[in-house]
Amino acid sequence: MLVPMRILLDHAAENGYGLAAFNVNNMEQIQAIMEAARETDSPVIIQASRGARKYTNDAFLRHLMLAAAELYPELPIAMHLDHGNSPETCLSAIKQGFTSVMMDGSLMEDGKTPSSYQYNVKVTRQVVKAAHRRGVTVEGEIGTLGGIEDGHGAGLSGEEARRHLTDPEQAQRFVADTGVDALAVAIGTSHGAYKFSRPPTGEVLVMSLIEEIHRRIPNTHLVMHGSSSVPQELLEIIRRYGGKMKETYGVPVEEIQRGIKHGVRKINVDTDNRLAMTGAIRRVFAETPEKFDPRDYLGEARAAMRRVCVERMVAFGQAGNAPRIKPVTCKQMVIFYKTGVRPG
Ligand code: G3H
Ligand code: 13P
Ligand code: ZN
Repeated sequence: MLVPMRILLDHAAENGYGLAAFNVNNMEQIQAIMEAARETDSPVIIQASRGARKYTNDAFLRHLMLAAAELYPELPIAMHLDHGNSPETCLSAIKQGFTSVMMDGSLMEDGKTPSSYQYNVKVTRQVVKAAHRRGVTVEGEIGTLGGIEDGHGAGLSGEEARRHLTDPEQAQRFVADTGVDALAVAIGTSHGAYKFSRPPTGEVLVMSLIEEIHRRIPNTHLVMHGSSSVPQELLEIIRRYGGKMKETYGVPVEEIQRGIKHGVRKINVDTDNRLAMTGAIRRVFAETPEKFDPRDYLGEARAAMRRVCVERMVAFGQAGNAPRIKPVTCKQMVIFYKTGVRPG
């Protein structure tokens, strides 16, 4: 059943675990997540970026999600918009049936330029108002993502990125000013495969910031973006079968587990699944060059992604929790936002 993301985050907070939020762009990726969730009895967050919505066309995506809800009725599923760049994008996602949206007002509408605090509050507050009226969850972002190491993480230079780490005092003000359900924070992670040039220390992956932010806003669900672990064995498979991957390191699972102890409830993972699928496809092509049925390589890719999803679901602690969550609809959630009284 499709549920507002807020009820999954609340359950995770009450029971001290985290939820992986996996990005999707096609049927195989949705199937991989759902199979992993059934295998581990996990609640599910599936997220789609603006790029994913463009690639699939909203209608295909919506129907794939409805198929997931129909085929896995025992699992609560949140359908989340990743990095909405404007209130309009968020509203169009809500119209498509997304049960949760991210208004990323840390950047301007171009998705690149860091914005002002005032701009961020204005657009985020607008989305919170519209979304909560429909029982839909909202994630905001304060601080700007980007690797602190120069050359790692797209966009900002290392020095700029350090200046854009989340300021705990500002995070507290932002939550009070906007009423977001969840808050993405910048602690030195960045999107993509190239996060760190060596296994990260507390200098470049500033987990201590999470602890400070959580102390100030203990009731806000924290979100870690750019949280792929970039496993060396997945890089190796790609290299072995002709792919080019430079030396790189991701966010260690143990660091994420540390974050989960301090209020991190949603962990965004896309790159690890991309690596797993690409390695599997390369292997099929290299080992059995006579094959040309897409099911042969897409099936292997799906299986490889499923393995990553199972590992993360177990490591973050969401495994086993699906049957413990009482599903609630967005409609029922409207009452909660009006009165503060939890439905069900
Ligand atoms: O935000 C980053 C996610 O990995 C989605 O990436 O914008 O290429 O779909 P994308
Ligand atoms: P990764 O690139 O580390 O998988 O991060 C994905 C993400 O943050 C999506 O919003
Ligand atoms: Zn992100």
